[in-house]
Amino acid sequence: MCGIVGYIGPSQAPAILMDGLKRLEYRGYDSAGIAVHDGEKINMLKSKGKLINLEQKLEENPISGCLGIGHTRWATHGAPSDINSHPHISSDRLIAVVHNGIIENYLDIKEELIKKGYKFVSETDTETVAHLIDYYYKSGLGFLESVFKALEKIEGAYALGILCRDYPDTLIAARKNCPLVIGKGEGENFIASDIPAILHHTRNVYFLDDNEVAVIKADEIKIYDKNKNEVKKDIYKVKWDIDAAEKGGYEHFMIKEINEQPKIIQELVQRRIPENSHLIDMSGIKLKKADIEALSRIYIVACGTAYHAGLIGKSLIEKLTRIPVIADVASEFRYRDPVIDERTLLIVVSQSGETADTLEALRIAKRNNARVMAVVNAVGSSIAREADDVFYILAGPEISVASTKAFTAQVTAMEIIAVSMAMELGKLDSDKFNNIKSELYEIPSKISEILQKSYIEKQLAEKYSKAANVFFIGRGLDYIVSMEGSLKLKEIAYLHSEAYAAGELKHGPIAMIDENTLVIAVLTQEELFEKTLSNIKEVKARGAKVIAIALEGNESFAKEVDDVIFIPRTSWITAPLLAAVPVQLFAYYMAYCLGTDIDQPRNLAKSVTVE
Ligand code: M6R
Repeated sequence: MCGIVGYIGPSQAPAILMDGLKRLEYRGYDSAGIAVHDGEKINMLKSKGKLINLEQKLEENPISGCLGIGHTRWATHGAPSDINSHPHISSDRLIAVVHNGIIENYLDIKEELIKKGYKFVSETDTETVAHLIDYYYKSGLGFLESVFKALEKIEGAYALGILCRDYPDTLIAARKNCPLVIGKGEGENFIASDIPAILHHTRNVYFLDDNEVAVIKADEIKIYDKNKNEVKKDIYKVKWDIDAAEKGGYEHFMIKEINEQPKIIQELVQRRIPENSHLIDMSGIKLKKADIEALSRIYIVACGTAYHAGLIGKSLIEKLTRIPVIADVASEFRYRDPVIDERTLLIVVSQSGETADTLEALRIAKRNNARVMAVVNAVGSSIAREADDVFYILAGPEISVASTKAFTAQVTAMEIIAVSMAMELGKLDSDKFNNIKSELYEIPSKISEILQKSYIEKQLAEKYSKAANVFFIGRGLDYIVSMEGSLKLKEIAYLHSEAYAAGELKHGPIAMIDENTLVIAVLTQEELFEKTLSNIKEVKARGAKVIAIALEGNESFAKEVDDVIFIPRTSWITAPLLAAVPVQLFAYYMAYCLGTDIDQPRNLAKSVTVE
């Protein structure tokens, strides 16, 4: 999604803004721009396409100044173009604005402003904000008052960075339903939609809350609530290192993040189930035995890859606790009037903690008196702050649009939550707990083993890179891994791919199978192995090529398929953590062979803050 960066201080803003925007590239964008106050006027440069285009413009027409805002745009209202790029500026260059989110009532406001004589040049909703602030300012209000007045009128979601020509020492920021942080430096301050943009300048950040407005000067930050009362906030010290948001020698963030998985899972497991303890450390979760006993149902709601982690959570929680669990994608959940009451637990899963649909699902549950638990990566994110209980996966910044390390960390978290609930309810004895614990402890080294043999997925990708149709099939937890594998292949290799419950093939989709189809079958669930093998035979009989992902020890079935990726043996519960890795690697190498933009696939954004 769009990215925002802003700077005020003694240094030249353009270089800082461009550097910040580069660090936000991973969010996905199609155009970019900066506006810089030179002490007298606001100068602006904007360009469609990658940042290199903007850089060229900046080289040809340098602008200077120590206050500025920058933006990477992911088009919603109006096609990607120079004109539609942000910043947007009012007619006589008084007010410049960068904006993430959507102004829902912009057409009404635009019409009113046109009647007052305002001229619009872009198709965006954001331009309305610049003219509206301009209008209030010219009616006699000060800069801050004009911003407040405009915010009263606009409906929708926004993170805003705003400049006024008459205020060369002031940057105003505002937020509603879109993330925005303020970085506090020494004699300089920053704003950003995401921490990596400013982390090499400061580790001290304030998270702006909904309806708050910040007035930022080089040596002062004042934050106001919607009633214009000043609010005091605690500084959050970012603990992770800037290296975590850089490629560290890898060609792409995605492959770097795939390789980080053993370490992340090891740290997560050791933190939550310490080696010498028989207890699970559920810090952040206040849900007690009586609360769990009182539950009539659990919903697990998320989007995309996080939803797949949620589906695994559903299977495990239901199996281990016997509490009914319903998993749903957030964009459906929020509009289907689900049955929610005080005996409902909603578990939301989100890497970014900012996904608009997931956040709204959380709010619906809270309005209906349900308890909300969040499984989140981004510390201090909106979802983390609004949930009753938070289980941080602490996977570090995930930069690649395709989620990998967050997925396996989310799955690990769901396993720990399921086991902990079952223990609280007395439904898991200590032997079973110890078995699961030792399986979890062995997962990192088993993933490392798979990673060391990643040449297998590379060779398979080279062999099958011409495939036009890919089916992933599996049963039970293998079906969920199939869904994740299929999503990865679609999003980064742009390949048509479907995931099917293996037993469903014969109810329709098998009609599509022929000698040009590649089928990837996941068979890690021992009790379903023979069933899935029958389905493999069905697709083989129709000419499909089959790659199987199976546990070591099942070598004898290799002759039934074209290729096999064997993964180390593990229990049914932990198998998805291993099976996920070959599907991630296969998608990565397929995309590599096809020459796509792996870290920033077309049309996609890292953090989807609009519904
Ligand atoms: O930040 P979230 O986990 O809430 O994001 C949810 C999805 O947008 C995300 O998982 C998306 O599907 C990824 N691009 C998948 O790789």
